[in-house]
Amino acid sequence: MYCTDIMIKEHDNILQFLKVVRSMCCKVLEGEELIPEDFRNIIDFARNYSDRHHHGKEEKFLFNEMESRLGPIGENLIRHGMLVEHEMCRAHILDLENALALWKKEQKTIYKMDILEGAMGYATLLTRHITKENAVVYPFAERQLSSEVIEIVDKKVSDYENETEERGVQKHYLDMIASMRERYGEIEDQHDIINQ
Ligand SMILES: [Fe+2]
Ligand SMILES: [Fe+2]
Repeated sequence: MYCTDIMIKEHDNILQFLKVVRSMCCKVLEGEELIPEDFRNIIDFARNYSDRHHHGKEEKFLFNEMESRLGPIGENLIRHGMLVEHEMCRAHILDLENALALWKKEQKTIYKMDILEGAMGYATLLTRHITKENAVVYPFAERQLSSEVIEIVDKKVSDYENETEERGVQKHYLDMIASMRERYGEIEDQHDIINQ
């Protein structure tokens, strides 16, 4: 299925970025200077790549079809599962944004902790969310949606990809991952370490 192939690749890119976020947070804990612009890059990436570009495709093109066509299981999985988690991701990013604003006014330890909490809460939640989509939600869509519906979803995703490619959206955020990774390195999620 073209659309899930594309979105699994995006998951890989997002997971890569989240490993960099973990490393950024560790460095601050270890006493390195907190650089607000770098934490604002997390907000930019979360809102414009992970959310608008990726969750947008899920919500508008794939999940709406699953919700309306795959009965109570589809409805539960999407409306009470995936969409709720997308909202929780947005809440973590708002917490991060608010904490950065407070930190700008006054550099208190509690604001620094709130910044780390917002960033890490987001990273942990989204890592788990992506694991669930790769293992359960996308395979369910591939098994259960009719080929006609899959064709329509694939076409919408492909058009959207071409349009955003022309505007350089994907390249911009892939470059951001690479440059942040170069500066901060990366740290695995605890679940990846436990499962190794
Ligand atoms: Fe999602
Ligand atoms: Fe996703």
